[in-house]
Amino acid sequence: SREIEADLTEVLVTEQQIRDKLAELARRIEADYEGRDLLLVGVLKGAVMVMADLARELKPHVNMDWMAVSSYGAGTTSSGVVKILKDLDSDLSGRDVLIVEDIIDSGLTLSWLTGNLASRGAASIEICALLRKPDAAKVEIDVKYLGFDIPNQFVVGYGLDFAERYRNLRDVAILAPHVYS
Ligand code: PRP
Ligand code: MN
Ligand code: MG
Repeated sequence: SREIEADLTEVLVTEQQIRDKLAELARRIEADYEGRDLLLVGVLKGAVMVMADLARELKPHVNMDWMAVSSYGAGTTSSGVVKILKDLDSDLSGRDVLIVEDIIDSGLTLSWLTGNLASRGAASIEICALLRKPDAAKVEIDVKYLGFDIPNQFVVGYGLDFAERYRNLRDVAILAPHVYS
């Protein structure tokens, strides 16, 4: 269908819930980074919506930069080997870095990314993720600013895709099995 809603079984997190949660997280971030310059690092493409809304919710100046990394591949591979498709423009030395992600699924992307960014001399590196699937974790991720824990189901919307679709849905919703089976 051309209508996104026809492919969904259930809305899991509404646009309003996301807005409220990001406001809550933004107040914590403002307090924690008071008097420091914060660099938000968004992970393309899923983090685009969270980055846009979180950044606009923050009152002080922030810098925004982006990275694109390759997926480590579907299925059995759990090596967590990731390739940089687009690197940051910023030099991280001495910077306070906050990685912004849409979701922590297995955790492999963020596990690799935090390791990679840590080797560049940042003063601090923390993670903000809107969603996390605790039952899908292959590695533990130390996420300082978390939106919601969700069940281990295929979710789309608010940046999250299935085959590059559904990113523009305003809510986070469960994808109907008929779409991918
Ligand atoms: C998705 C999501 C996270 C990552 C989480 O990105 O946006 O970045 O997977 O999965 P993990 O915890 O198992 O590593 P994806 O690779 O689909 O690219 P995209 O952001 O462009 O959709
Ligand atoms: Mn992603
Ligand atoms: Mg994806």
